[in-house]
Amino acid sequence: MSRLVDRKVVIGNWKMNGSQGFNHGLVKELIRLESTIENSAEIVICPPLCYLSQCQELLLFSKKIRLGAQTCSEFEEGAFTGEVSINMLKDFNCHYVLVGHSERRSIMGETNEIIAKKCKASLNKGMQTVLCVGESQEEYDQGKTHSVIKSQIVSVINELNDAQLSRLIIAYEPVWAIGTGKTATPEIAQSVHHFIRQVISEKCVSTSEKIMILYGGSVKPDNAVLLFQQPDIDGGLIGGASLNANDFISICRAI
Ligand code: PGA
Repeated sequence: MSRLVDRKVVIGNWKMNGSQGFNHGLVKELIRLESTIENSAEIVICPPLCYLSQCQELLLFSKKIRLGAQTCSEFEEGAFTGEVSINMLKDFNCHYVLVGHSERRSIMGETNEIIAKKCKASLNKGMQTVLCVGESQEEYDQGKTHSVIKSQIVSVINELNDAQLSRLIIAYEPVWAIGTGKTATPEIAQSVHHFIRQVISEKCVSTSEKIMILYGGSVKPDNAVLLFQQPDIDGGLIGGASLNANDFISICRAI
């Protein structure tokens, strides 16, 4: 199947890293290097929520880089101590939000049900919403990759109408590849991305051809080129390597 993909995106997920001093240096360096990216991919950084304001100000000097958040609340406003709403993220000019990252699933206990609510809340506010899915090492070893991915995706898309679904972005991040230096081979990643498109096509064929599917899990400058060459990989979700300006920009150049 040949696809007319007009959008690509590379997202840096800083996780719980950074400080005002570190962020200042990193973002300034990203801005200095961004002119070396010749493609038209969207570039996004997701700092910890408390640094959104700082990064928003620093990014006023960027022509390419946009702001995203690592999580959001499913609720609009009110008595939800510690939570941050989609409207608050938009207030800081956030364009993207990650939902259901494996660390939020396994450490913070986010269920498919909560993740579906967050995706819906975020899509309803017009946010670029990145649903993260992926199987654990044990599930991979037991050959359960497809069934795990399918149930993570179906539990969200069953709650969405076609318009909401058409705006969703998916990131496939095998848990065994996150922060381990053990990336999926381009062939494995491609075959799972292709499978994800099939799952989406059971709900909406036209969206399945267009939906952006990002790969994440130990993407580095030296493996990005081959991963991004795969026909069903439309971009990357980058953890560790996004904390180094040279590495992140090289990955952005590879898309
Ligand atoms: P990694 O993290 O690139 O450090 O493996 C990716 C992610 O968790 O989004």
